[in-house]
Order: sequence, then C-alpha cells, then structure tokens
Amino acid sequence: MLVSGNEIFAAAKEGKYAVGAFNVNNMEILQAIVEAAEEEKSPVIIQASQGGIKYAGLEYISAMARLAASQVSVPVALNIDHGTDFDQIARCVRHGFTALMFDGSKLSFEENIAVTRRVVEMARPNDISVEAELGKIGGVEDDVVVHDREATFTDPDEAAEFAERSGCDVLAVAIGTAHGVYKGEPKLDFARLEEISKKCSVPLVLHGASGVPDDAIHRAIPFGICKVNIDTEVRQVFAEAVKRLVNEHPDEIDPRKILGPAKDNMRNTVREKMRLFGCAGRA
Ligand code: G3H
Ligand code: ZN
Repeated sequence: MLVSGNEIFAAAKEGKYAVGAFNVNNMEILQAIVEAAEEEKSPVIIQASQGGIKYAGLEYISAMARLAASQVSVPVALNIDHGTDFDQIARCVRHGFTALMFDGSKLSFEENIAVTRRVVEMARPNDISVEAELGKIGGVEDDVVVHDREATFTDPDEAAEFAERSGCDVLAVAIGTAHGVYKGEPKLDFARLEEISKKCSVPLVLHGASGVPDDAIHRAIPFGICKVNIDTEVRQVFAEAVKRLVNEHPDEIDPRKILGPAKDNMRNTVREKMRLFGCAGRA
C-alpha cells in the first residue's frame, strides 16, 4: 500500500541513502518503476507533475498508483512534483497522495514560507510529507520553466531559516543541477551543499539528477540528500525503444509490441538508479 513520504525519508536519513523519485505519465512508466522497485527490494517515490496530472487525469494517476502499490511488498509513496498551485495540491490530498511538493521558488522568501506553511498545515494531520524548494533550479520540468539567468543557488543560512519557519519535511536545493538534458557536464557546488546540510535541520532533495555523473551523485548523498528526482533519463530510454521498434518494424501497429520494449528499458534504468542511490535492498 501507499506509505507517507515521511516514512521513506526517515528510513533514508537513518540509513544514509537516497530514494529515487520517478515521474509518471502513463501506465507503462508506472509499471516499469514499481516493478523495478520490487525487483530491487527498494522503497520508491512515484511522482506526477502538474503536467502529468493534466495529461493522465488525477483520478487515473491516483488509482493506478494505489493499485500498483497494493501489488508490491516495498514501500511506495505518491508525490505531486513541483506543485505551484495550492488548490491543485489540496486536490491531491483528497485523492490520497502521500507526499506533496510545493514549489514556491518563484515567490519571495516570505511568500514561499507562508504558502509552504499552509501546505504543511493541510498535510501534517494526514501524515503527508511536504517538500519545498528554495533557490531556483534551472531548466524545464513540464510547466515549470527557469531560464539559466534566473537560476539561483540556495543560500545555506536562508535554508536553515526557511526549514525552521516553513515546517517543511524535506527541502529541494539548487546547487548546480537543472531539469532536462544538460548541454555540458553539470558542476555541483558541493561546498554549498555541505554548508546547507550542516545548517539545515531537514533532509535535502536533489532535482535535475538525470545526466549527473554517478560519482557526483555518490558524493552528494552523504551531505543529507534523501530524495533524488529522475524524469529525463526515463523519458530518453522510453523514446529510444519506441523509435527503434518503429524503425525496425514499420508495419507494427500493436501498442503492446511498441511499448513493451520501452517498458523493459525504463525498468532497467530505474533499477540502475536505485542501486546508484543506495536504496536498493533497503525495503
Ligand atoms: O522534478 C523532476 C526532476 O527534477 C527531473 O529532473 O530532468 O534531470 O530528470 P531531470
Ligand atoms: Zn524537479
């Protein structure tokens, strides 16, 4: 069954590993992620962005995730990713989401705290975890667009104050990652991350982790990273498989034959990430 994000984050903090959070838009992606988690005996966070919810429908995402979680033995949390609209987040609560991200990074520091606090007040009585964002992570994640020049790194002192005053359970930080496909190798500001982890009382979240070298991921996790978000790499292997199948079998019209190999590719990628993040074998 679905579990609270808080349960997953507490175990990750205790075990000093990170849990993968993978974006979902349809049945095949969801099945690939949950099958990977069962095969790797790994906790997992399934997440849908506002765009993903719009595409699949909130009822579908919620029902499919609940069903998927009921069919595996590992802990599964369901998260709205980069929620910017309070009412949308409230609808997710009503539909059984067990984790919420309020992305207030485009708001002022005080407004971000105020709205995050409102989300916390709604979530806490239901034991639903709340992720906030401080600093602007660059790139494009569905309807959340941050141009390079707008991207701003997280200030360690502000992070400490923000976590204290907002009551968020976990905090997404901007330390050099970005959403989408990187043009060059991302350079993570580890000194900044170390300072944030020393000053900030809550576990941290790394967004934009697709394309970040494995050694950088390994280096970041000990600095309090408990959740690592992956969307682009899963999309890439999905698209590669579909294009290959259609090119090799141009007359194929059976969606199962077209999407089946894509599902296998996605499952393998998710399994690799679970091993990389250290959550494999932790369920
Ligand atoms: O919130 C989703 C993730 O931050 C997506 O990051 O584009 O690097 O996969 P990614
Ligand atoms: Zn993100």
